[in-house]
Amino acid sequence: MQIKILNGTMVTSAEVFKADIGIENGVITKIERKSKTANADLLPEFEADNVIDAKDQYILPGGVDVHTHFDMPFGGTVTADNFYTGTVAAACGGNTTIIDFAIQNKGETLKQILDNWHKKSETKAVIDYSFHIALTDVTDNIISEIPDIINQGVTSFKLFMAYKGSLMSSQETIGKILAESGKLGFLTMIHCENGEEIDKLTKELLSNGKTSPFYHSLSRPADSEEYAVSQAIKLASDNSGNLYVVHLSSEGGLKNIKKTLLGNKKVFAETCPQYLTLSIDKYTETPNTPLIKGNKDDINIPSEFEGAKYVMSPPLRGKYNLSALWDGVKNGAINVVASDHCAFNFRGQKTLGLNDFSKIPNGIPGVETRLYLLFNAAIKDKHIDINKLVDVFATAPAKLFGLYPKKGEIRIGADADVVIFNPNKKLHIKRIKLHQDVDYCPFEGYKGTGFISYVIAHGKIIVRDRAFCGAKGSGKFLKRNKFDPLCLQASSSK
Ligand code: URP
Ligand code: ZN
Ligand code: ZN
Repeated sequence: MQIKILNGTMVTSAEVFKADIGIENGVITKIERKSKTANADLLPEFEADNVIDAKDQYILPGGVDVHTHFDMPFGGTVTADNFYTGTVAAACGGNTTIIDFAIQNKGETLKQILDNWHKKSETKAVIDYSFHIALTDVTDNIISEIPDIINQGVTSFKLFMAYKGSLMSSQETIGKILAESGKLGFLTMIHCENGEEIDKLTKELLSNGKTSPFYHSLSRPADSEEYAVSQAIKLASDNSGNLYVVHLSSEGGLKNIKKTLLGNKKVFAETCPQYLTLSIDKYTETPNTPLIKGNKDDINIPSEFEGAKYVMSPPLRGKYNLSALWDGVKNGAINVVASDHCAFNFRGQKTLGLNDFSKIPNGIPGVETRLYLLFNAAIKDKHIDINKLVDVFATAPAKLFGLYPKKGEIRIGADADVVIFNPNKKLHIKRIKLHQDVDYCPFEGYKGTGFISYVIAHGKIIVRDRAFCGAKGSGKFLKRNKFDPLCLQASSSK
């Protein structure tokens, strides 16, 4: 299959230019630059089965979403999207690679965790995928298994400072894993919230009858993140470890990360569209989806429970944090904007916590809306330019997680993973138009512009006019390279 894309505006993390692009056997083989006004085909000899006219449209690298939770047991239930529905949604949202968290059940070996996640994904994924391992039960045996797992292409491990009594690791354990990351060449991803403080506040709130979703946000204050980020940075520094702070949500946490920019930067950070576009008011807003008449699950759902749709950890913050986070993205203190797609249905899953916010499964969907939100909130509202969008959406995550140069950038020799994005068509986000298998969308009603005309993965069209046309099981497991602390310093191709 050969594809020719003509007259599109190609974007890298460094440049924007008009080009004709040739794709052969799943790989980018031609990029011919042309002036803005030129329209003649610069690849006349190139025989293609498919010629796409991309005039007035952006040609972006396929998104690399390094933070998803598909088919994951969590909070007494299992996330709503599996590797088929989740990767279809990812593809329709302009992603061609995801990295999912394979979570450890207590007592499991690293090999067992990986086998489990391979089984969940291998016949289902429609785009390329890889795994991080989320460690919840670290022993000396687990640590001794890490080199073998790195050889199998898994080069990042997540630890939790939050979720006391279930997922949380001790400072000692976190220090040990950080030390291994420096020695062996992997990234230690840390969920930075102070689990001790959250546990205490949660108990206090519940014992005072404060049970609604709004109190989830009060139980996890911003300074709990700020403190945990400072602890994580200290542990990384003491142990010469490679630290990546996941889902950063607060100005205070960012302030601590910025301090490390002064030194030899081995601290990287990620935020998510929800922390850049939504704020704490969501926990108290009036319902935007009326209860469904006759739906038995609606009985006894009070309107104040609507806030459960935004119960995630860390929680949404006060508005002032949003501009601070945008600033962090713009100035490079935050390197990645990932979705943290962790979907639970409102009816039947979020409702597990109807009478107790601490029992509401934590997480929201977002794998399908990341590009649309980034494009509008970032470009239209001028927080960042289109090069930065490409960087945080695809290039930097590919570099940090050992996938570059095959992934993350349109360049000769890279996998032909391409998004053709029309910036002018109207956008109105509605759950019913999305492919995520979850009964609500936290961004319902969002209006702007932008339309995904095509997604090409490995040289095959898998999305056309926002509709999925790929094949179940066609995604491949990606073995990733070791972490390179200097990966973001190497310039992108010009
Ligand atoms: O609320 C969230 N973020 N759920 C997913 C699990 C995690 O901590 O990333
Ligand atoms: Zn987390
Ligand atoms: Zn997560």
